[in-house]
Amino acid sequence: EAGRKLFAGEKDFLKGVVAMSGLPPDDRIEVCFAGRSNVGKSSLINALTGRKGIARASNTPGRTQEINFFTLAESHYLVDLPGYGYANAPLAVVEKWQRLLKQYLSGRQSLRRAFVLIDARHGVKKVDEEILTLLDKSAVTFQAVLTKADKVKAAERDKVMAQVRKRLSAHPAAFPEIVVTSSEKGDGIETLRAIIATLI
Ligand code: GTP
Ligand code: MG
Repeated sequence: EAGRKLFAGEKDFLKGVVAMSGLPPDDRIEVCFAGRSNVGKSSLINALTGRKGIARASNTPGRTQEINFFTLAESHYLVDLPGYGYANAPLAVVEKWQRLLKQYLSGRQSLRRAFVLIDARHGVKKVDEEILTLLDKSAVTFQAVLTKADKVKAAERDKVMAQVRKRLSAHPAAFPEIVVTSSEKGDGIETLRAIIATLI
């Protein structure tokens, strides 16, 4: 179907951006992946594209320090964002990424939807709320994606789902459907591809 077809097309790393002035022209529709450091953003892009090393993933939080653009099917972008909520880097450096992240999330015309990744073991944290509120204010529709589903039992995951659902209900920009994924096992990847295909 549409999702498989879209992701079967060309996909490549385009560029890493460290300032708003470096963003590519906003003439393609894009979706981005936001979330706490280490939640699995880069791994999810690898799983979606079926190209393991296209986005650099790592066990070290704070791996992605730029806004990375990946071309998709010649007229779209997937956007991998630096994580937030990571306190273990020099403050000046963290503040620089956070400022860029917030500028991007609140001022990108061509951003069709933000996928906000939430660890299936941990649920929505205080640092997530700040981003969700920013997305509300910027009128950017966001959709929650639970990550690392392979690391939790179904009962625990359902508890986290309920917590996430409750938190989302307070956010006008939240899209109600939550996607459960495992980049490791492939769960939810086809579903997410199909969702992206409906957006672009
Ligand atoms: P930053 O760029 O630092 O913000 O992190 P990120 O959100 O891009 O996370 P990344 O994709 O680098 O993954 C962090 C760690 O989680 C890596 O060790 C991944 O292998 C692991 N990981 C990511 N997704 C999954 C998953 O679905 N299952 C399991 N078991 N591990 C995962
Ligand atoms: Mg990353």
